[in-house]
Amino acid sequence: MSGSPAAWTRFRHHLITPPLLLAPMAGITHSAFRRLVAHFGGYGALYTEMLPVRMLLAENLQRSPLTKRRLEEGAVMYQLMATDIAPIRAALKRLTAVEPFGIDINLGCPAPMISRKGGGKALFDDLHRLGEVLDTVRTAWSGLLSVKCRLGHETAFWRERFLERLELFTIAGIDALCIHPRFFHEKLKRKARWDLFTWVKSHWRRPLIGNGDMTDATALDLLRTGACDALMIGREAVRRPWIFRELCGNRVEIDYVKVWDDFFGFCLDDFTPDRAIGRIKEFTSHYADNFFFGHELFRRVQSAPDLSTLRKRAHAFLQADPRVRQ
Ligand SMILES: Cc1cc2nc3c(=O)[nH]c(=O)nc-3n(C[C@H](O)[C@H](O)[C@H](O)COP(=O)(O)O)c2cc1C
Repeated sequence: MSGSPAAWTRFRHHLITPPLLLAPMAGITHSAFRRLVAHFGGYGALYTEMLPVRMLLAENLQRSPLTKRRLEEGAVMYQLMATDIAPIRAALKRLTAVEPFGIDINLGCPAPMISRKGGGKALFDDLHRLGEVLDTVRTAWSGLLSVKCRLGHETAFWRERFLERLELFTIAGIDALCIHPRFFHEKLKRKARWDLFTWVKSHWRRPLIGNGDMTDATALDLLRTGACDALMIGREAVRRPWIFRELCGNRVEIDYVKVWDDFFGFCLDDFTPDRAIGRIKEFTSHYADNFFFGHELFRRVQSAPDLSTLRKRAHAFLQADPRVRQ
């Protein structure tokens, strides 16, 4: 274990205290999950899941569970899935209603459905359109602006292509870069290449957020050694929404039934029952990893036809005091 994180970092003139961030995760980092994480605290900012820019023109942003923000959440970064420049200005104007702490642009999503629309990986690949999108966002949004990307495609020239993009980010006035050091084709397989953070940092003068496979305090060494300025945690924060609090050096006593119940209730506060059920199943599939026989919880919950059955099945498992994996 490597102690608690530095107290803060700065993205332009914005303090991030502590420099620990919740990763954007589609289907997971909606308002109900952010509320759950907020109850434990210990993070500097939370990210929304990727939000298609055109969706922002249609939604009621203060009511939609993807975009609404509770005061208790603190700093919330809104991640945009941008494809073309036309709707950006109007979408950002509407987004000011929920007072984003900052905006992030998704340049890392390798999902074919997103690429076909021109977002994520496809935007990273198209240098010209990427420049246009970033310029348009930067002109319309004077606040904190970050981008989140991967290493690119695993070719002989990936470093050159990556550095070309870093230069573009600098010219476009991006305030912070989040790097998930895997290639596109790797999805979430193979270990994230933490050793590349230092290389990226040697070519990037602004704050660097490291992401990928951070599950315990050993990741804090990346802050201590200066390899990263902030750390972003995804899947482990779904399994253990209290991880940020723990990384700050706090001992956290967990009531596994209560945490699950809180999440269940938060989902029903924000989603209609037909939409809540999918979100609860998704969360539970990660939460189940806390237990030795978690696949049983996963299996029983996934096949539940309605919310009441789902809750009964989850309770039957969790209230039996299942053995917890450390
Ligand atoms: C279910 C799921 C949904 C994700 N959705 C997004 C997303 O909307 N935007 C994004 O930039 N990355 C997304 N990611 C990638 C994560 O933000 C993160 O980069 C990745 O999970 C590696 O970090 P981890 O090892 O801490 O989970 C998603 C990952 C998962 C598992």
